[in-house]
Amino acid sequence: MNISVFSSNKEVSARAAELIAELLREKPDAVLGLATGDTPIGVYEALVERFKRGEVSFRQASAFNLDEYAGLPPEHEQSYAAYMAKHLLNEIDLPLDRAYIPNGLAADLEAESKAYDRLLEQAGQLDLQLLGIGHNGHIGFNEPGPHLHAGTHVVALTEETRDANSRYFDHLEDVPSQAVTMGVGWMMKAKHVVLIARGEGKAAVVKEALFGPITTSCPGSLLQLHPRLTVLLDEGAARDVQGLPGVRYL
Ligand code: PGA
Repeated sequence: MNISVFSSNKEVSARAAELIAELLREKPDAVLGLATGDTPIGVYEALVERFKRGEVSFRQASAFNLDEYAGLPPEHEQSYAAYMAKHLLNEIDLPLDRAYIPNGLAADLEAESKAYDRLLEQAGQLDLQLLGIGHNGHIGFNEPGPHLHAGTHVVALTEETRDANSRYFDHLEDVPSQAVTMGVGWMMKAKHVVLIARGEGKAAVVKEALFGPITTSCPGSLLQLHPRLTVLLDEGAARDVQGLPGVRYL
């Protein structure tokens, strides 16, 4: 595990975008695993800037998003489909028929999950999975609990997650209670996982996930077992891991 601490979130985003751009230069048809939330917005901004400068092309790439809320149509501004369109897909040259996001409106979400797994199988291994981490240790929407799923599945969102995400909705009741999420198996099989976190609010969970016991109570802790994990943190998120093994300040 390689943990790099940057003095600002802008630098975290720039480094994550650089890793993605380097991958696409080496392997133009790379399969990307993409994330939503506040944390990756800066990464997508940096990628769009690079694309506009002609430094990176996504024309031959594919992308799989981690998750989608159940019941939100893609045009709902809080859907992850709308998020991806706004922050990345409308701005770059990735063909939209290779930008996969689970369909949260599917009548049968179990069948949708299986179909998503089949698409992932056809694509082969994810070359790079970009990940954030929730305050409760979730990765994608794999919530803490007695067990974790390897494949894509339907998940009941914890109250903590609904509460955290209610900042985007008018009322807490508007936050969907279910989602479809890629399971941790796909993340663990990715060739490279890039975990990003920013702000002191994430400091405790960053320490727990990277240095605590490996447990389904903190899904992010599984990443300790990943053979190629790159962690990019700003100083706030790195508050509790200063001086621990593998942590370097850039
Ligand atoms: P955030 O979410 O980037 O909005 O903090 C991260 C996550 O819940 O995975």
